[in-house]
Amino acid sequence: MEKQEMMYEGKAKQVYASEDPNLVIIHYKDDATAFNGLKKASISNKGVLNNKITTILFQQLNQRGIRTHWVETLNDRDQLCRKVSIVPLEVIVRNVVAGSMAKKFGIEEGTVLKEPVFEICYKNDELGDPMINDTHAVGLGFATRDELDQIYAITSQVNEALKEIFDQINIRLIDFKLEFGKDSEGQILLADEISPDTCRFWEKGTDKKLDKDRFRRELGDVIGAYEEIYGRLSQWVNAK
Ligand code: C5P
Repeated sequence: MEKQEMMYEGKAKQVYASEDPNLVIIHYKDDATAFNGLKKASISNKGVLNNKITTILFQQLNQRGIRTHWVETLNDRDQLCRKVSIVPLEVIVRNVVAGSMAKKFGIEEGTVLKEPVFEICYKNDELGDPMINDTHAVGLGFATRDELDQIYAITSQVNEALKEIFDQINIRLIDFKLEFGKDSEGQILLADEISPDTCRFWEKGTDKKLDKDRFRRELGDVIGAYEEIYGRLSQWVNAK
């Protein structure tokens, strides 16, 4: 399947039309941004690793009956995916307090939550993705009540699946962000990516950060962390 015209360019990915009107080709770039685009860099090979990590995780989710936009990984940087219209929400799942939640509530990073916390944000770069509640999402027409219920149900399934997977490779899943899309039949699918760009991963025992916080906080060896996550995941898949 060959790439056709570029339909959209985001911070870390490009979306191309394909020969099939129901499918798109998503290209993973090396570009990294943080703090709503204020900090920018190119991290050599990050796109390749995020493509590979997302591929493994979406395959695992598909095997567990969770529908995603992923169809096939074409090469080191490109995935063939179902074409969806993106629901303009970022769904954040937190198992452990970190990042903006630690700041907002003045609670120490690393505090384990009594149950997972789900946050939703309106996906809008100019506004800095403001946090909203369910009535905003439905009232403003970002999703219907039924779609939001489906999104939360899938989000919960994804959290349980990812926690189980990462536990087996000695990684703590601290928090992560999901995005959803609707296909031509109106079906809600998990979209975007699941990678160290969109998750916080801490090594069990040491709590070493193995995710984009190494870039955000200038902790060094960003790519080494992404390689570590891919290495552990691929070894786990191959041993199964
Ligand atoms: O910044 P914050 O602590 O709210 O991020 C929570 C989680 O969501 C982190 O894993 C972060 O990587 C992810 N996130 C994301 N894209 C955003 C905002 C947050 O992937 N725009």
